[in-house]
Formats: sequence, C-alpha cells, structure tokens
Amino acid sequence: MSSRQRIFADRIRCAAGACALLLLSAPAARAAEPRVPYVPTPQEVVERMLKIAKVGAADYLIDLGSGDGRIVITAAKKYGARGFGVDLDPDRIRESNENARRAGVTDRVSFHQQDLFATDLSQATVITMYLLPRVNIELRPKLLQLAPGTRLVSHDFDMDDWKPDVHLTVEAPDKYSGAGGQSDIYYWVVPAPVEGVWQWQTPVAGKPQSYEVKLQQKYQAVTGSVRVGGRESRLQGARLRGADIRFRFTVEVNGAPVKHEFAGKIEGDTIHGSATLSGARVQGRFEWNARRATPSSTGQRGLPPGIFQIARSARH
Ligand SMILES: C[S@@+](CC[C@H](N)C(=O)[O-])C[C@H]1O[C@@H](n2cnc3c(N)ncnc32)[C@H](O)[C@@H]1O
Repeated sequence: MSSRQRIFADRIRCAAGACALLLLSAPAARAAEPRVPYVPTPQEVVERMLKIAKVGAADYLIDLGSGDGRIVITAAKKYGARGFGVDLDPDRIRESNENARRAGVTDRVSFHQQDLFATDLSQATVITMYLLPRVNIELRPKLLQLAPGTRLVSHDFDMDDWKPDVHLTVEAPDKYSGAGGQSDIYYWVVPAPVEGVWQWQTPVAGKPQSYEVKLQQKYQAVTGSVRVGGRESRLQGARLRGADIRFRFTVEVNGAPVKHEFAGKIEGDTIHGSATLSGARVQGRFEWNARRATPSSTGQRGLPPGIFQIARSARH
C-alpha cells in the first residue's frame, strides 16, 4: 500500500469510528455491520473503472458495498450492462433505488440490503469494489473461485501479492467531497487453474511427436518446461489471461531447431487451440489438444490446496 493509500485507509477507518476499527481488527467475529464506511467513488473514477474493464451490454456487474449505486447505475445507463449492488446500509439502498429510477435503469439493475460476504457472485462477469485492504484480502479466495475470465476492478486498494493485470493512477478532482486527490484503479482477470503436467501429440514432418509440459502457477503468473524427443527446454513468454494461455519454446526435432508457439483455451483438464511450428524443415499450423495428466500438487492458481474447487467453465 502506498503512503497515500495508507492515509486514505486511515481516513475511511476514522470516518467509521471505533466500531469499524474493532471489526477490522477481528475478522473472525464479523458482524453484519458495515466494515467499510461510505465514501463514494468520484464519478470520473467510476467512468475509468468501467472503461478499464471494457464493460458492455453483455456484462453482469456486481458492486460489493454499492453506496449510492453509482457504479451499477452508470454501467447500465452508459453501456447497457445489467447487475446489482449490495450494501448493509438501508439508507444507501433506498438512495440507490431512487437514483436507478431517475436514471431510467430499474429494468436492468437492483439493490439489496445484504452482507457482501454472503452474496452469491456466480452471475458476475465484472465485480467492482471500493473497500479496504483487509476486506479485499478476506474476499480474495472467493474471487479466485469465480469463473476464469471474470473481471475485477478495485478502487484504491490492491490484493497484496495477487498483482493486478493493470494498475492506473488517475487525477480525481471530486474526491473526498471535492477536496480532490488521486485514485488508484486495480484490474484483474480471474485466472484458470492451469498448474500440472499437460500432454499432447503434434504431427512433425508427418509423424506424431509427443510433448509433455509442466506448468507452475502463482495466480496469473505461469512458468514451466517442456519435454519433447528426450530433450527439455524452458517455456518462454508464458501468458495466462482468464482461460486463455499462450507460450513458446524452441527444441531440436530430428536434429534441427524448431520454434513452437502454442495458444489455446483451458476448459477444466483440457486445452484446445492451435500450434505454429517453424524450422528449416518443419513449418505449419496445427490443432492443439492437450490433456492434464496430473492435477496440481500445490493447489490451484498458486495457493494452498483445498481452498479452491475445480473452476467452472470459462467466460467467453
Ligand atoms: C467506500 S464505500 C463505496 C461505495 C460505492 N461502491 C462507490 O464506490 O461509490 C463502501 C460501502 O460498502 C458498504 N459496506 C461495508 N461493509 C459492507 C458489507 N459487509 N456488506 C455490504 N456492504 C458493506 C458501506 O455501507 C459503504 O456504502
């Protein structure tokens, strides 16, 4: 957390008073009381958050701790998205419903007085939050269980060692009731669990060649190695975004180096995509169908085993 964020976290904790401090320091004894006080996201930051997540008419957005409803309402009014917000404060829910009515979006959005930790997030394609660092960390296991490809946007607070895919700092002249400041916006795409040993065959010079790739994963960061024709090589440029994976490597096949590039979509224990091979004697683009031979030994997505269930099918 930067010093500016620390100051803000202190500010919003102070705004909540001693009760919030007590609750923040005792997560196990969480009561259904707001653990984060109401501080609205400035409208210009709302717009940037929705742009970063590329929110569109096909999206279902959930705002966790939705305040006056501005994020869900803007997503519906400007981009035609659907969704809902949850907040523990009944006044905020009343205000949100009134704002939705004024914006003419009551057919696409709703607001519910409920605890964000007890909220079913499975419908979401996009989740937004303006909470606190500890609350983000407590939510993190639940967020990592969402369908691969679900997009997450957090105002001002990160997820500790789950590094964001995108981080921006923007000017926010309307922040803190017009006092002005800057806002951080963090963006993640929920990664598919990909750790394990993957096997497949690709035709090389007319003969099926067996490949075995071992992948290690920490959140969306993937590293690994490949074994082919008795030789081993490190993977390069491995990239995981939601359920989409790509990597490349160069290995000798039949005595000559061949560059291999793979790109595909992970669906449970299979990957389907394409392979491009280029070498002096081997050229071509092939279908790539890989199967996971062993599940991860260290748990999915780089965290301890037992926390995650097998991820459901990926978002497209
Ligand atoms: C910092 S405000 C953000 C409001 C809105 N999302 C925005 O960005 O403008 C946090 C909101 O979370 C609500 N809240 C805090 N703890 C909550 C909980 N456990 N469940 C639901 N809402 C909660 C508060 O009442 C407050 O309205």
